[in-house]
Amino acid sequence: MRVIAIDGPAGSGKSTIARLLADRLGLEYLDTGAMYRAVAFAALRRGVDPADADDVARVAQSVELRVDTDGTRVDGVDATIEIRGPEVTRAVSIVAANPAVRAEMVSRQREWARKRDGGVLEGRDIGTVVFPDAACKVYLTASAETRAARRSKEVSDLDYETVAADLARRDALDQGRDADPLRSADDAVVLDTTDRTVDDILDELVALIDG
Ligand code: DC
Repeated sequence: MRVIAIDGPAGSGKSTIARLLADRLGLEYLDTGAMYRAVAFAALRRGVDPADADDVARVAQSVELRVDTDGTRVDGVDATIEIRGPEVTRAVSIVAANPAVRAEMVSRQREWARKRDGGVLEGRDIGTVVFPDAACKVYLTASAETRAARRSKEVSDLDYETVAADLARRDALDQGRDADPLRSADDAVVLDTTDRTVDDILDELVALIDG
């Protein structure tokens, strides 16, 4: 099984790099953040309080998820746009800190890769928890300003200050939680994407993986 693990904080360039790297390597790509967002979306849609650990765990265990490059379907409903919206973004950190939710998502992520004999998976804990034996582990970083600038370009209805504050809040929650906090695996290649082009990073990664 050929697994490439791409981890890092929001706005570090994970999605762009992971998607293009998968294309170059002829592998499929999985956005695991979209899975946690989908669980948060399902909880809100079912009227479940995101902070109610037991109820949210039941949502995670029962939700029908389809996350692929065409978009995200949750219980048969297209939620591609909604999972990026402010409501889900506000709720997702507490949902992702729920150990029972994480156990369910990790098991689905392993199943996804097993069926395909590998793939490129991006998230926060892929190299540390989901696939500690991944063929290649990459941890992407970028300065807080760069990450906030990238995110505010994506969400046109929010100003830079709001996006920067939300990013700082989510970084603190993702890094400070007890269950599988965001951190770089000891054997990950750490790349700072602040002043580098996408092509430059891809070339380095392809050389590293093929070399
Ligand atoms: O990458 P993103 O912003 O779409 O991630 C959404 C949330 O899910 C974020 O709070 C971090 C969390 N997450 C996680 O805990 N583990 C993962 N493997 C992926 C995302």
